[in-house]
Amino acid sequence: MIIDTHCHLNDKRFEKDLDQVIERAFDAGVKGMIIPGADPAELPKAIEIAEEYENIYFAVGVHPYDREDFDLTYLEKHITHPKCIAVGECGLDYFRLPEDPKEKEAEKAAQKEIFRQQIDLAKRYKKPLIIHIRDASKDSLDTLLEEDASKVGGVLHCYNASPLLLELNKHGFYYGIGGVVTFKNAKKLVEILPEIPLEKLLIETDAPYLTPHPHRGERNEPFYTTLVADKMSEILDIERSELEDIVLANTRRLFKTFF
Ligand code: NI
Repeated sequence: MIIDTHCHLNDKRFEKDLDQVIERAFDAGVKGMIIPGADPAELPKAIEIAEEYENIYFAVGVHPYDREDFDLTYLEKHITHPKCIAVGECGLDYFRLPEDPKEKEAEKAAQKEIFRQQIDLAKRYKKPLIIHIRDASKDSLDTLLEEDASKVGGVLHCYNASPLLLELNKHGFYYGIGGVVTFKNAKKLVEILPEIPLEKLLIETDAPYLTPHPHRGERNEPFYTTLVADKMSEILDIERSELEDIVLANTRRLFKTFF
């Protein structure tokens, strides 16, 4: 049994056939899902889906790309919903920073500020974090440690598999492994994967993005976590069923939820 710990089922690309997408996943043994927050305007849809399906949960959070729509009061209003099990996805993304040095620093500072506020929210409500890090390993690590985020822990998206981020497993953080691990050019992640303790691994799609090989370019969906699990069991040289059991236990432990 697999839980897709990060899929944007509230994305417009699932509007037409969401029920089939979910059914396809359930039939393939993907028995639970977590919808992370990103754009606050899409939160009501996430709540609606989580209320409809027993094993689907959501998180409240604002993605760094949507930082201008950040509203702490709005997140706080929904965090006590019984199906809200985490805060995120929040974090730092320096992939498309402005060229101008002053603007660049201002953008970084603004991202850090809302990241800090979301870490604080997670701590106040004792929810784990779903953390988005892209080209910002050092600043993310510093922010998480400075803000004492290890009190609640969380899961990192493995965009840039960086040895620096491996540090965080000592502080209660988990690693969400997704379609990238199947990419032909994912050498770094493939090398780093065996260094991550087994009890810190989670499986995710980031659907509709980052579709695993051989479906790259198509819409991603939770069903494809099966391809991620296959690849992980190959790299780590453990039986797929054993891997699933370990990852399921990890997922329950981090999110304090019995999927
Ligand atoms: Ni995402």
